[in-house]
Amino acid sequence: MAKLMINEKRKKGHINPEIYGHFAEHLGRCIYEGLYVGEHSDIPNVNGMRKDVVDALKEMKIPVLRWPGGCFADEYHWKDGIGPKETRKRMINTHWGGVIEDNSFGTHEFFELCRQLGCKTYVNGNVGSGTVQEMSEWVEYITFNGVSPMADERRQNGHDAPWQLDYFGVGNENWGCGGNMTPEYYGNLYRRYQTYVRQYDPSHPIRKICCGANVADYFWTKGVLKTCFQAPQPGPENGPLLDGLSLHYYVHPEGWQQKGSATDFDDSVWYKTLAKAKYIEELILRHSAIMDEYDPEKKIGMIVDEWGCWFNVEPGTNPGFLYQQNTMRDALVAGISLNIFNKHCDRVKMACIAQMVNVLQSVILTEGPKMLLTPTYHVFHMYRHHQDAELLDSYIDGNKIIGTQEEYQVPFLDESVSVSRDGTINVTLNNLSVTEDAPMEISFARLNPTDVTAAILTGDMQAHNTFDSPENVKEVPFTAYEVRDGSIFFTAPACSVISFCIKEA
Ligand code: AHR
Repeated sequence: MAKLMINEKRKKGHINPEIYGHFAEHLGRCIYEGLYVGEHSDIPNVNGMRKDVVDALKEMKIPVLRWPGGCFADEYHWKDGIGPKETRKRMINTHWGGVIEDNSFGTHEFFELCRQLGCKTYVNGNVGSGTVQEMSEWVEYITFNGVSPMADERRQNGHDAPWQLDYFGVGNENWGCGGNMTPEYYGNLYRRYQTYVRQYDPSHPIRKICCGANVADYFWTKGVLKTCFQAPQPGPENGPLLDGLSLHYYVHPEGWQQKGSATDFDDSVWYKTLAKAKYIEELILRHSAIMDEYDPEKKIGMIVDEWGCWFNVEPGTNPGFLYQQNTMRDALVAGISLNIFNKHCDRVKMACIAQMVNVLQSVILTEGPKMLLTPTYHVFHMYRHHQDAELLDSYIDGNKIIGTQEEYQVPFLDESVSVSRDGTINVTLNNLSVTEDAPMEISFARLNPTDVTAAILTGDMQAHNTFDSPENVKEVPFTAYEVRDGSIFFTAPACSVISFCIKEA
């Protein structure tokens, strides 16, 4: 029997709610159809936003949303997306599927969506093909309350008060689709562009995110940080030029070219996928070690603002739309990744899964008026209790390593544990085996668990939801546990995610 040992006396760091963040790009059916259907749609909506989707995301407790890209961000000119909709520019989305972008979802619509969701806002600016003036005017348009050309234009467009901009990304993937830059060149551009991301409202400072590395590109991390920290620097009282440094990592089980099917895979691809998901821990540690050289006090957050599974598109769909199904394998990838982010919350301050609806590892899929929640949605829902909680010391005694190939081994069981402000202990546990159930005990340093609730998500490794069978895989209450002698005993089924909320009444 494996034993999850929790030391509820040892708090190890704060879990920023933004670790449970999301990303929505003008890509495929994410924004249009997935989130925004327009005021005149037959699909129930509030100011054009799908009501079913917004309700589900609120229930999942979405903390932050990143927009408008992705690669789209470095081709996006924000002024195309304001003003009367009939006069907004129609253009081709050259990056994603060559479809018409009518700019009907722009700045006002993004902030309206976030208002309805009740989440923080993360806007990604354009360095690749945009000017410093354009970026600086966008920030002025969004956040300035006084008299100025941009603030006046916002008012003319129907929004009197400024919005709250929580995070601003200065470019996206500038080592690739965002301009194919070298780290030193981008680092210098970052220094310049971020200067004009003005803090118009000191009571709500905008956190500036610098473009970080792809996967294991440590050379990029070093080069950008070296440039950003090089003299001349503003006075030390102003802190570093950046609040966050991004990291992007996608799991492609069969490599970048042959990504593999989202639903049709065997045991060995299952373990390979999970092992590749686990690899993000090494990436966090190694990038963080470089960050430590410049920022030993960990003031700069690692912002994993694109992560998740990237498989082949569903047969018959536009290859540029990146629409893929979502199985129990995605659920375990999400469970493993979120446990890792929790455990590294000293450095990881935000993470945004890619992408929220209808693109890559989505939490929601839509088809016309229909909507379904994916297994990944249920994981985010089960893990929501970790948001804003304190990470606790935990360890699984009697764990083992499993897998079908030597280079793709994973732990049998994987966990993270936190304590909420009200004293509730939150446990999230994954059984990564395709076949083997895990008899388990949860024990505590001193706590006597008298008030326990739990939920489980389980199914075959390829199990997923379809529009004909939308509840094939879903979170259900888990009651098959026994509380005895201060411990909790249960069996974690193969291929499952379990969450516990535990209190001493
Ligand atoms: O999420 C899809 C794309 O992946 C994003 O646009 C880009 O930033 C990344 O390469």
